[in-house]
Amino acid sequence: MTHHQRLKTSIAILGCGDVGSTLAYTLILNPICSEVILVDPKTALLEAQVRDLNDATYRGNTGTKVRAGTHKDAGQADIVVITAGAKQKIGESRLSLLSRNLYILSSIFSSMSPINPDTILLLVANPVDILTYFAQRLSGLPASQVIGTGTTLDSGRLRGVLAQKTEVSPNSIDAYVLGEHGDSQFIAWSSILIGTAPLRLALPNGITPEFKEEIATHTRGAAAAIIAAKGCTAYGIGNMAASICKYILFDQRTVRPISFYQPELGCCLSMPAVLGRKGIIQSMPIVLDEEEQMELEKCARHLRGVIESAEKELVAEKGLQKAIES
Ligand SMILES: NC(=O)c1ccc[n+]([C@@H]2O[C@H](COP(=O)([O-])OP(=O)(O)OC[C@H]3O[C@@H](n4cnc5c(N)ncnc54)[C@H](O)[C@@H]3O)[C@@H](O)[C@H]2O)c1
Repeated sequence: MTHHQRLKTSIAILGCGDVGSTLAYTLILNPICSEVILVDPKTALLEAQVRDLNDATYRGNTGTKVRAGTHKDAGQADIVVITAGAKQKIGESRLSLLSRNLYILSSIFSSMSPINPDTILLLVANPVDILTYFAQRLSGLPASQVIGTGTTLDSGRLRGVLAQKTEVSPNSIDAYVLGEHGDSQFIAWSSILIGTAPLRLALPNGITPEFKEEIATHTRGAAAAIIAAKGCTAYGIGNMAASICKYILFDQRTVRPISFYQPELGCCLSMPAVLGRKGIIQSMPIVLDEEEQMELEKCARHLRGVIESAEKELVAEKGLQKAIES
């Protein structure tokens, strides 16, 4: 890396479709780095996004510049955000994207190598927990530097709906969706605080099974409902990913549910962690009740099953590749 490069703080975004470009726009509006490097094999789209995004910088209220780059450039950035990959079609599950996005992920690491050993990888592409697991293996970076947005967005949605129910700002609510960013996620009900009050004291009728069902269905189904109407989700995830980049670059030590490797569970899933300049600074203990603990274990079993079949697929693909090459 040149001296000049080292003086700049850069965030590389791989994939400049709906999510990548929204993230870039958010980083321009709330500047935290000198440059945003966009990478996408669709060269006409890439060039157009860079031009359009730079148009948003000329009013002079941001110091952040946007440029196109290669995967190799991206590998030297302070943070590499991976939004590259197929997205869900209407009614499609996140897990059905796995084969396509795992293939893209492995090609990305081949082209980024050698990767900056201090970089933080932030996975956004789905299925995000599975891709975070494989990104750590493919990149060779320490597990603490490879994270996925996980249930950050789901937890934001949870705080949003609880804010409406309790008439307290989402900022004053501590509430976590944990586990998979997908159908096996669960809400850590027992640790929710509305300001200083446990949730049951902040609700006129306490926490009923109907209330739990209504909130969990809302949180789990929010993305599908938005995708059904507009074809993608972008603003929520763009904003959450930009905030995570800020916690990292400012070494902010903010606690968020984030997807990272859980050695005792053998997979990546979201648990609360302290985020700072080196990625995961530490995992944050959370007291789960018996039911929540069972949900966590069930979620981990499900994710491990997906990882195992993806591993078999990768091995078969490598075998096939060798056969084609020989
Ligand atoms: N984690 C979350 O909460 C969350 C939220 C929304 C979307 N997503 C996921 O993010 C991903 C992107 O969604 P989108 O709506 O931006 O999709 P999109 O199709 O609009 O953009 C994806 C872009 O990735 C590019 N790409 C493909 N291969 C690439 C490579 N090797 N290097 C660089 N770029 C490459 C494509 O050309 C495309 O422009 C999807 O997997 C989607 O499911 C995750």
